[in-house]
Amino acid sequence: MNNDEVQPLVMILGGPNLSRLGQREPEIYGSTTWAELEMLCEKWGQDLGLRVQFNQDDFEGGMVKKVHQATDKAAGLIINAAAYTHTSVAIRDAVAAMEKPVIELHLSNPTAREEFRQTNLLTGVVNAGVFGFGVKGYKLGLEGMAHLLGL
Ligand code: DQA
Repeated sequence: MNNDEVQPLVMILGGPNLSRLGQREPEIYGSTTWAELEMLCEKWGQDLGLRVQFNQDDFEGGMVKKVHQATDKAAGLIINAAAYTHTSVAIRDAVAAMEKPVIELHLSNPTAREEFRQTNLLTGVVNAGVFGFGVKGYKLGLEGMAHLLGL
């Protein structure tokens, strides 16, 4: 049997400004680029028996659409909604309707940062969270997803 047919698909979705990873405030977010992170996630996913679909969108509506795609096609979602974490009812509602495992992920620990990052609209509708481990958090997130999927 073809692996593509049997391995669960996990969507990894990044929000605004994450395409600038590596250049963007590297003292907070690290020096790994988004393209490098995609390759790392594919490898980490493979090691766990997961197929990974990597996406990024700078726009709120685009992220909502991608959450719908994950709802229809994927076994689970790992979402770093970036700044929209703190503002978007639309993304929260899309995630709340998903009825599949969702892990919220942040490279930094937003709760240890500015006041405006203390509002988090996603935490109440996700299964689990990974915060503050930098790029390594994506490996932990994939491991957590494999666990939630019973692998
Ligand atoms: C972030 C944290 C958010 O507060 C911020 O707006 C981001 C990145 C993180 O991964 O640490 O863009 O989601």
